[in-house]
Amino acid sequence: AAPSSASGHGFLQCLTTSIPSDLVLTQKSPSFEPVLVSSIRNARQLGPAKASPPLAIVTPTTASHVRSSVLCSVRHGVRIRVRSGGHDYEGVSYRSTFSHEPFAVLDLFNLHSVRVDAAAATAWVDSGASIGELYYAIAKAAPGLAFPAGVCPTIGVGGHFSGGGIGLMMRKYGLSADNVIDATIVDATGNLLEGKAAIGEDLFWAIRGGGGGSFGIVLSWKVRLVPVPPKITFFDVGKTIEQGAAGVLTKWQTVAPALPDDLSIRAVVLNRTVRFQGLYLGPQHEALRITNDKLPELGATAKDSRELSWVQYTAYIYFGDTATPLEALLNRTFPVGSFLKHKSDYVKTPIPEATWEKILSWPFGGATDGQIILEPHGGRVGAAVPDDETPFPHRAGVLYNIQYVEVYPANLSTSPPSWVSGLYDFVEPLVSSNPRSAYVNYRDLDIGVNKDGVASYESAKVWGERYFGAANFLRLARIKAKVDPENHFRHEQSVPPLLNY
Ligand code: FDA
Repeated sequence: AAPSSASGHGFLQCLTTSIPSDLVLTQKSPSFEPVLVSSIRNARQLGPAKASPPLAIVTPTTASHVRSSVLCSVRHGVRIRVRSGGHDYEGVSYRSTFSHEPFAVLDLFNLHSVRVDAAAATAWVDSGASIGELYYAIAKAAPGLAFPAGVCPTIGVGGHFSGGGIGLMMRKYGLSADNVIDATIVDATGNLLEGKAAIGEDLFWAIRGGGGGSFGIVLSWKVRLVPVPPKITFFDVGKTIEQGAAGVLTKWQTVAPALPDDLSIRAVVLNRTVRFQGLYLGPQHEALRITNDKLPELGATAKDSRELSWVQYTAYIYFGDTATPLEALLNRTFPVGSFLKHKSDYVKTPIPEATWEKILSWPFGGATDGQIILEPHGGRVGAAVPDDETPFPHRAGVLYNIQYVEVYPANLSTSPPSWVSGLYDFVEPLVSSNPRSAYVNYRDLDIGVNKDGVASYESAKVWGERYFGAANFLRLARIKAKVDPENHFRHEQSVPPLLNY
């Protein structure tokens, strides 16, 4: 569609016929900029988001507002970027690098209810809820039940479930997306699809891990809740290079993915130290017995660990203390923080100790700060689930995922440092290859983009097969052709439609 102020004007006019004006923030509205920046968690995106702002931010309170927004956007050639928690590492939910393409943000933060059915062990959660709100609501309504999802409570349900959702309970219970059992969607023609029968098998498959912003606007998700004991155990043991961190990490690579599913130990590398953070779905003495049996080199002790309820654990791993009230899980407004750049990898063959020694003393320092987070696979996220059961293909044979997090201060006057790309190149021979896999929820535009919105399946394979594997990406592109042949829902890494296949 041709860009023009006319199309923007027509779009806004169209919205006024069906959506209350206080829910449509134009660039002149006093609350436009505060709302635009409200959920941005990466200072790197602030400047670009403000420099090329959306025409409007629509803040729907009903499904019918969402439908109207889609209909108006299609009619007037204005694209919609849907935002739930705004945590996308590259900001594709609220900023666009496509020139000549007017866009609006549909921000779902008003649609954030959580309805728990304790007896059925299920919940309906709206996309605009944060996972902290979900955790809190489950704990209030159904002690003894829980949900497997990520670590940071401010992540939005909408994007997180769309891309998979990994966390320390995934070895026992799978990804967030693996536990989605129903949904409500507004599709590219503005239809409200309520429930699996209306959504259809293909689209229901695509939304559970095929990445956000491609297939429709998911309004709410029905999820299966999972049982947890009243007390679970969390431990955090640090090992410096001098204390033999490289040796423990080398062994951890094969031990962690093969531990009993009730125990997950991730490794966070920062500051020449590796922090081994474990979650065990049971009492402390058992957590220590199993850990010390399987990984005695770690030397985990009672003073490194504590018993908590599941919901206390979700707060503790993020806030770092038990004094913070659980209500903090409901807080969605955090400072923007630092400039961040993320990349990811999957490891299938253990990395030798000598290489870990080099990686651990990699110059993260100087003006930069940063960390590498290693999340063990295996169990319900491993070979137990076929690679094509959902679009998330990183299952059989994966030992662990690597997330590289580059952090640099906002006031940096020189160009941003990039230890991540140096390290990323260094480990290339050691990580998954053909393709070198990546996790779509750790979005990284360096691996390829749909330039100016124009993408073919062939050109998008470069990044698409890395996120989803060849077979799943092909299926996603065919589903996209069925549900959104005009490619209305598109962004820098949306799945392009494979037409006439
Ligand atoms: P945001 O609103 O930015 O959306 C992300 C993408 O999904 C965009 O393409 C957007 O258009 C689309 N989208 C959003 N809502 C949609 C909807 N309702 N329907 C369809 N598409 C929709 N991941 C992980 O697996 N485990 C973890 O522990 C963490 N930890 C973590 C911590 C922090 C601080 C950050 C910033 C991020 C993570 N992540 C993570 C990554 C996170 O899972 C990922 O960024 C999610 O996509 C964020 O979802 P939001 O709804 O917040 O993002």
